[in-house]
Amino acid sequence: MVKICCIGAGYVGGPTMAVIALKCPSIEVAVVDISVPRITAWNSDQLPIYEPGLEEVVNQCRGKNLFQHTNVEKHVSEADIIFVSVNTPTKTRGLGAGKAADLTYWESAARMIADVSRSNKIVVEKSTVPRELLFRTFLTLTEFSLEGETPDGQKAVQALKDVYAHWVPEGRIITTNLWSAELSKLAANAFLAQRISSVNAMSALCEATGADVSQVSHAIGKDTRIGPRFLNSSVGFGGSCFQKDILNLVYICECNGLTEVANYWKQVIKVNDYQKNRFVNRVVSSMFNTVSGKKIAVLGFAFKKDTGDTRETPAIDVCKGLLGDKARLSIYDPQVTEDQIQRELSMNKYDWDHPIHLQPMSPATVKQVSVVWDAYEATKDAHGICIVTEWEEFKTLDFQRIFDNMQKPAFVFDGRNVVNVKKLREIGFIVYSIGKPLDPWLKGMPALA
Ligand code: UDX
Ligand code: ADP
Repeated sequence: MVKICCIGAGYVGGPTMAVIALKCPSIEVAVVDISVPRITAWNSDQLPIYEPGLEEVVNQCRGKNLFQHTNVEKHVSEADIIFVSVNTPTKTRGLGAGKAADLTYWESAARMIADVSRSNKIVVEKSTVPRELLFRTFLTLTEFSLEGETPDGQKAVQALKDVYAHWVPEGRIITTNLWSAELSKLAANAFLAQRISSVNAMSALCEATGADVSQVSHAIGKDTRIGPRFLNSSVGFGGSCFQKDILNLVYICECNGLTEVANYWKQVIKVNDYQKNRFVNRVVSSMFNTVSGKKIAVLGFAFKKDTGDTRETPAIDVCKGLLGDKARLSIYDPQVTEDQIQRELSMNKYDWDHPIHLQPMSPATVKQVSVVWDAYEATKDAHGICIVTEWEEFKTLDFQRIFDNMQKPAFVFDGRNVVNVKKLREIGFIVYSIGKPLDPWLKGMPALA
C-alpha cells in the first residue's frame, strides 16, 4: 500500500488529503501537524476548518485510510510520498519584509524530513514558496533529486500523476519545469485578483457617474473573451493567497530588475486597499461625518462566504477603520468565533507599502467590539449595518424587523451587493451598495478624502 504523509493540517493540507483519501482507497494518508489542538480537532466532531462537504468526506475516510497525528517524525519516515503544506506567510521583518515568503516553517519541515528519512522519498511542495529558493534549500539539506528531468525525477512525476489519475483525467494533468509551475500558480491568482481590482476600480467610477457596476459586469461578461465569472464588485478581495502571491510575484520581478512589471502588479493591491478605505470613508461621511459612539453592525467577518477563514479578510480593515473613528461594533459571522475575531483585530498588521507596523488595537478599543451569534442581535439599536461577507443567509434576513429595531435614520452599507436595494429603500433604509447609483441622501455627501 502506498503511504502518503502530509506535513501541515491546515486549510491546504487538511482538505487536500481528505480528497486524496476519498478518491484513492488504496492509499493510506497520514496528516501530521505540530499543533496538538489542530490534530485533536481533526479527530473530533468539530473539525478545525469549515468548508461545505468537508465533514462528509472526512467522516467517510477517517479511521479507514485517513489518519491525523501529532507524531510527525514517525509518519514522515514511513511515507513514500510527502506533501509539505506548512504555512508560508509574508515576511514581516528583515530582507524582503512585506513581500518575500517567510520560510521558517518550511525550512524546519525540510530539515526534519532530511533527518528522519532512511529510504527514498518523493517530496511534493504544496505551500506557495518561490520555487528556486526552496529548491536550493532542499538540495543543500538533502541528497535527494528534485528535478523532473532526471530518471529519478521522472519516476517521482509518474508516481504523483498516478495519485491524481484516480480522479483527474490524464489529459488535464500538466507537467512543466519548476519555474513555469511556480509562475503559473502566481499568475493565475494575480490575474484573478486583477479582475477584481479592475471591476472595483470601475465601481468607483460607476458611483461617480450613475452607472450600475452589476450591469457593466453583466454586459462585458457576455464577451466570451472576458467571460462572466469573477466580476463581482466588492469591498475588496481577501484570503491567504491573492495578496501573498502578488507580493511574491512583485518580489521576484524586483529581484530580476523588472521595476515596471513589479509596479504594474503592485497596483492591483493598491486598488484593493483603496476600495476598503473608500468603503469606510463612505460609511463615516454618510453618517454625518462621524461614527463616534454609534453602534455599527458588521455582518460577516470571513474573507468570503462558506468558510471560517479570516486571513486578509477585508473585514479587518473595515473594522479597524470604523474603530479608528470610535464606533462601537457588533459583529456577526455564522462561522467565525469571537476568539478569532479578537485575535485578527489585535494582531500587528504589516503595511506592505510602507515599512511600518501598524499598531495593534489598544485594550480600550477591544472593549468597543462585541461578537454576537445572530444578525438580529447585531443590528438591534444599531445606527448602521455593514455587510462585509456575502453569506447566503444575509439575502433572506427580515429587513423590516431589523429596520424596526434600529436607530433612525437607519443605514445599510452593502459591501457585497447582496441586498435588494429597492426593497430596502422602500422599507425606509438609506442604502449604499458598492458601484450602484447613489441614494439621494448620499449624493450631496462627497466621500471623505
Ligand atoms: C483563491 C483562488 O481562487 C484559488 O484558485 C487558489 O488556489 C487560492 O486562492 P480563495 O482565496 O479561496 O481562492 O477564494 P476566491 O474565491 O478566489 O476569492 C478570493 C477573494 O476575492 C475573496 O475575498 C472573494 O470574496 C473575492 N472576490 C471573488 C470578489 O470580490 N469578487 C469576485 O467576483 C470573486
Ligand atoms: P495553509 O493555508 O497553507 O494550509 P495553515 O496555517 O492553515 O496554512 O496550515 C499550516 C499548518 O502547518 C499549521 O497547522 C501549522 O501548525 C503546521 N506546521 C507548521 N510548521 C510545521 C512543522 N514543522 N511540522 C508540522 N506541521 C507544521
